[in-house]
Amino acid sequence: MKKLFMMLMAGLFITACTSKPQAQSSEEPTKKALVLYFSVTNTTKQVAEYIQQKTGADIEAIQLKEPYSTVYDEIIKRSGEERAGNVLPELLPLKANLADYDVIFLGYPLWFGTYAQPVKTLLANVDFKGKKVVPFCTSGSSGIKQSLGDLKKAIPGAQIPASVGVRSSLMDKMPAAVDRVLIDLGLMEGKNEVLADYSAQQAPSAEETAIFDAAISTYPMMNGTKAVSVGSRKTSKGTDYKFVGEANGAKMDVYITKENGDVAPYFTAVDR
Ligand SMILES: Cc1cc2nc3c(=O)[nH]c(=O)nc-3n(C[C@H](O)[C@H](O)[C@H](O)COP(=O)(O)O)c2cc1C
Repeated sequence: MKKLFMMLMAGLFITACTSKPQAQSSEEPTKKALVLYFSVTNTTKQVAEYIQQKTGADIEAIQLKEPYSTVYDEIIKRSGEERAGNVLPELLPLKANLADYDVIFLGYPLWFGTYAQPVKTLLANVDFKGKKVVPFCTSGSSGIKQSLGDLKKAIPGAQIPASVGVRSSLMDKMPAAVDRVLIDLGLMEGKNEVLADYSAQQAPSAEETAIFDAAISTYPMMNGTKAVSVGSRKTSKGTDYKFVGEANGAKMDVYITKENGDVAPYFTAVDR
């Protein structure tokens, strides 16, 4: 455990310096990491537990004095009212003392585009100054981007060296997405494929439009969204696309992967 934490901190320090991981001297104090997450229907919990297994960090769920129902419509109703009234739902005290931790993996479902309201309560009540915060989220379709912007505003004293978002329908791809971040941070052995930048946006070809339409057809809330422009990059798995889509006059970035072979294209995130 101690060794893992030391590796963790060595890795994060190393990321900042963009050099190769090195062993930390035994005189340096042991640093600790915590996976702190909120989850109602246990999707985010699966990511939290995976990170915990891979890093050996401590883990704790953010819990409410009055837990949410697990019935979807009831969560929507209550959370919608809390959001509209800027009500911060009361949390049970954390068991962990955050002062003991330097690295916090902070997990949440995306609600209304950003972190769920109980995380807002947490951020308002806990001092994250000087911490390294690695956000992770699950969602139906939205990407993590908006919540990262909100986090940076809410906890300006924290560093956010990396993050990972996973759609709940793509949980089979979650381990690879998390591993990539842990390897990037120097917290896991392995080598990541270096990904090229997307090519410049241009009008989509008929084939690209068909890929866009096929990928979004799996998600009814994307109905009526049209591909406006696209950039792409080749990877060892196939082709990644960054489309600009438009629906009802609003534009969004839609990230789509078309793997080699006879695999249906799928979208990994929509950033509005
Ligand atoms: C109140 C509420 C709001 C949501 N808002 C969004 C959203 O804005 N974008 C999105 O992609 N998914 C949204 N979702 C879907 C959740 O982010 C998704 O189901 C998530 O994986 C649930 O995580 P959990 O199982 O850990 O609770 C919402 C779900 C609820 C209940």
